[in-house]
Amino acid sequence: MRKIATDEQILDALEKSNGIRAKAAQLLGITPRAVIDRVSVMRGKGLTVPNSTYNPGDQTKERFDRKPQEFTFTPLPEDDISVEDLVAHRKRQFAYKREYEEASRLIPIRIKIPGPIGILHFGDPHVDDDGCDIEAIELHTALVNATEGLFAANVGDTTNNWCDRLARLYADQSTSAAQSWKLAEWFVNRCRWLYMIAGNHDLWSGAGDPLKWIVKQQNALYKSSEARIALRFPNGTEVRINARHDHAGSSIWNPAHGPMKAAMLGTRDHIYMAGHKHESAYSVLKDPISGITMHALKVASYKVYDRFAKDKGFRDNALSPCVLTTINPHLPPAHPDMVKVFWEPEEGADYLGYLRRKT
Ligand SMILES: [Fe+2]
Ligand SMILES: [Fe+2]
Repeated sequence: MRKIATDEQILDALEKSNGIRAKAAQLLGITPRAVIDRVSVMRGKGLTVPNSTYNPGDQTKERFDRKPQEFTFTPLPEDDISVEDLVAHRKRQFAYKREYEEASRLIPIRIKIPGPIGILHFGDPHVDDDGCDIEAIELHTALVNATEGLFAANVGDTTNNWCDRLARLYADQSTSAAQSWKLAEWFVNRCRWLYMIAGNHDLWSGAGDPLKWIVKQQNALYKSSEARIALRFPNGTEVRINARHDHAGSSIWNPAHGPMKAAMLGTRDHIYMAGHKHESAYSVLKDPISGITMHALKVASYKVYDRFAKDKGFRDNALSPCVLTTINPHLPPAHPDMVKVFWEPEEGADYLGYLRRKT
């Protein structure tokens, strides 16, 4: 016979079972559906019925808890840093990154010697390539060391550094990868560098770029792809150099298009220097606002004989593997001759000597 429960009995059962309909039904010996139906009727009559606290998770847990413990298990320790430590570490990492990037916007270099100076900008050395004029590198680094006030700078691609699928190209050159790094170290230690930039070939090493550590021994500035520098002279003059392995943009009519575009549309600096394309180019612009003269330059390469350029049929646009710029800080900031450009480094070194004797 069908069992009937009174409203009071249902309320009492719900009270005892924390409002869980199925449990109340068990206590009353009726079906859960019958309890649910009666609850809606009772609510219709205006009675206050406790809400269900049913939680399937609890029920599952209870079911598991009811099982006898047949074995015990000590959970393994975490195999990685906790998320709290990870977030704290990421914050510190970002703080380092921000500090580096903000300091890189314009890197001050304080020149300690009075008077005019010169910078010999070395084109892509590719020092391990069979087509590299290593004797010219030897002569030009010696010239830097022998000339008072002359500094060296490098716009990148110090070695071929063939990586990944290009590693097969070591078969086309007579230097091994190990010999390439020996030559790189020899090159870097030949003279003191005002700045060095990592080119695309150097960057193929990834985060573990060996040049970074070689240059560190010299305490020289080494940056990937670009460096914007403010040379601060003892008399207060500031000359800015915006050097990149390559300035974006090209034109078949104007090889200096990339650095010119950077000068016209970007920052207004005195010297724009780029390598990478292994071609020489030069254009002079005036900044109409500050009145400074901006020199947009491209420097070629010590890789004088280039099989890749020959295969592609590139026009020979190299005036010299390097370019020398003299800077006379005694001239007013807007003077058009504050920076002079020489494609023959010996000529530039002679002019620098003349300038230094004169002032
Ligand atoms: Fe290059
Ligand atoms: Fe390059």
